[in-house]
Amino acid sequence: MENKIGKLRHLISINDLNLQTINDIINTAISFKESPPKKLLKNKIISTIFFENSTRTLSSFEIAIKRLGGEVVRLEVMSSSTKKGETIADTAANIDAMKPNAIVIRHKGAGAGNYLAKFVHCPIINGGDGAHAHPTQSLLDAMTLKLHFGEIEGLKIAIVGDITNSRVANSNAILFDRLGAEVTLVSPPHFQNPLIRRFRNTTDLRDVLDEISCIISLRTQTERHSRGHYGDLRDYASRYCITKELIGERNIVVMHPGPVHRNIDIDDYMLEDKKSLVLEQVQNGVFLRMAVLSKFHN
Ligand code: NCD
Repeated sequence: MENKIGKLRHLISINDLNLQTINDIINTAISFKESPPKKLLKNKIISTIFFENSTRTLSSFEIAIKRLGGEVVRLEVMSSSTKKGETIADTAANIDAMKPNAIVIRHKGAGAGNYLAKFVHCPIINGGDGAHAHPTQSLLDAMTLKLHFGEIEGLKIAIVGDITNSRVANSNAILFDRLGAEVTLVSPPHFQNPLIRRFRNTTDLRDVLDEISCIISLRTQTERHSRGHYGDLRDYASRYCITKELIGERNIVVMHPGPVHRNIDIDDYMLEDKKSLVLEQVQNGVFLRMAVLSKFHN
């Protein structure tokens, strides 16, 4: 959602951003990586509310805020009033009443960010809502691709894994497509997602291995499955794990939003290989979130 002076009102999904703003955020993040910006969040307080577990996204936002000179107030969800039966709308409205400059939120419910935006005055930044969207992850992935390849347009990218339940798959497919890349979704049939059938898809990674230059591997989101698809994730891995043998001499970079199921999503060898951009994604994530935080109007 953008207002008329091009500043962001909220960031809930990639669909909130026009192409110019997407490129502006990515380029700003790259410039922040090249030379640290001024303390753009001096005297600002940002609240982080994460109802779902997180290692990278929460730390990345909090480090980004502090690098910009802002302060963080983290709501410790496990000891918050949500545990006493307060609704998330009331929790958000109460935090908002204390006048933070923005709220970064993660929740298991798809649409939580949009819903909460109705109850607050400050910007809401979505740190991941259910299987719906994870806009800053996809922007940092695009930044990483741009830094590695110079251009995203024309890149052939395979997104591999639990497409149905992955907000990263949703956001990435939409963003990379808008940036002119060719996206193929690779997953077993039970992990296909009707919402994004508009993308080329296959059940066999070998179908596209000779054309792609990037694989985005995803974690199997067992916490979102209503029934067990695999007794043992090694059955999934036997077809979808990104291994040394599978990649061979091909010039393909391997990415993953984390957390990685080692030797299920990507094998030890490929994770340590220079073709893995996994930790570079994490490093870029801080600059990307600094760029996003610099685009809000208050
Ligand atoms: C992902 C998430 O939480 O959506 N990780 C992340 O934010 N870096 C992916 C996942 O949980 O598998």
